[in-house]
Amino acid sequence: MRNKNKTVWSHRFGKANSKNFQRIGSSINVDKRLYNEDIQASIVHVQMLIKQKIIPKKDGKKIINGLKKIKREIDKNKFKFEEKFEDIHQNIEKRLFQIIGESAGYLHTARSRNDQVVTDFKIWVKDASIDINKTLDSLMRSILKKASKNVDTVMPGFTHLKNAQPISFAHYLLAYLEMLSRDKKRFKNNITLIDECPLGSAALAGTSFNIDRKFTAKKLGFKKPTNNSIDSVSDRDFAIDFLSAAATCAMHLSRLSEDFIIFNSEAFSFVEFTDKVLTGSSIMPQKKNPDPAELIRGRTAINYGNLNSMLTIMKGLPISYYKDLQDDKELVFDSYDTLKDSLLMSIELIENLHTKKNNMKDMAQKGYTTATDFADYLAKIKKLPFRKGYAISSKLVNYAERKKVRLDQLSMNEINKFVKKVEINMPKIFDVVNSMNSKTSFGGTSTKNIRKMIKKYKSELK
Ligand code: ARG
Repeated sequence: MRNKNKTVWSHRFGKANSKNFQRIGSSINVDKRLYNEDIQASIVHVQMLIKQKIIPKKDGKKIINGLKKIKREIDKNKFKFEEKFEDIHQNIEKRLFQIIGESAGYLHTARSRNDQVVTDFKIWVKDASIDINKTLDSLMRSILKKASKNVDTVMPGFTHLKNAQPISFAHYLLAYLEMLSRDKKRFKNNITLIDECPLGSAALAGTSFNIDRKFTAKKLGFKKPTNNSIDSVSDRDFAIDFLSAAATCAMHLSRLSEDFIIFNSEAFSFVEFTDKVLTGSSIMPQKKNPDPAELIRGRTAINYGNLNSMLTIMKGLPISYYKDLQDDKELVFDSYDTLKDSLLMSIELIENLHTKKNNMKDMAQKGYTTATDFADYLAKIKKLPFRKGYAISSKLVNYAERKKVRLDQLSMNEINKFVKKVEINMPKIFDVVNSMNSKTSFGGTSTKNIRKMIKKYKSELK
């Protein structure tokens, strides 16, 4: 009779592990999250062992039923996870012995925890990537909705945080749609790369049993088995790719949040948020702070840190499996949780955002944002070299600055001092809405372009 406290390697070991090592070496508190994937992969493994007549059908059936029972126990929170059995794989195997007795001993035929864990983990990362992409779709839909309502909302576009040129708030939002759709591609690309099943690579060398790796790969939703058993148990590229995609996506959300924090400040006053996404101050009664945006921005550090940790774990690691790899899961789970929360919070920020259109337009008129339009006009209509038009426009800006007026407040006479025979409709050049709509080049901020883009995204995001 097996002692229920003994490890599977107890026959070889004279002494139990120290308490400290047991605690530090155990990963059960983290990798119990893989229980579904672990049980699913074990069931498929056993089905294959039965099919290949590697283990007796009778014992195999018992194992499958036992594993299903364990899944129900864990689902219902009735499973006792034990640190002394190190990880999810051995916790489940131990429990299987308790439920079905010695037949459980057939389960680990032709496999190792090395191929087992990476199989579970790949399935998990694939599902997590699909889930992140679904959440990205929801965020993109919210952004699109907000953009549709703000096609005509003119605001200053900034470079160096100095007013640059008038743009549409919708065009600004659609810029983020582009970033997020690239993020989606990064996750999708990783899903394609993950699509090879490591199960059956065993410890590192493969196995002498007549296993059917194509069968297990297919049943577990992979396209094919991995080609090389050593690479299979060593590879964590897919974790790095996930962490990297998550870090880039978090960076995009951070920039969006930073913009919102600035736009929401009293100094800018471009947008306001409903109370649902604001917090007060414990001392200043008047305050309403955009904490969620700050948390999204701050937590990007977690996503960066996890990527950096994973890359560092891998850097000097000889081929193939080393215990260093055990910590991979904590990093990936943490990055997933963090990014998922940041995405959900971004959706709420967008949904609870209201534009203060008049303030945006007022600000768009400050800082001589149409000076480039005047230079362009001189180049186009007056056929001046752009540099010449640019110089004339600079002088006009200096003049307006001295007079403390906006460009559109200058009279025809004043403009004619800088350039002769300017057409009567000249002041239109200084109108911010006209400026915005004149940017008809592909990808530019004209409302015509924006409407086309919104239509394109609407059909893509259905
Ligand atoms: N818990 C281990 C991990 O996550 C499973 C693999 C253990 N393999 C071993 N050779 N000790 O990496």
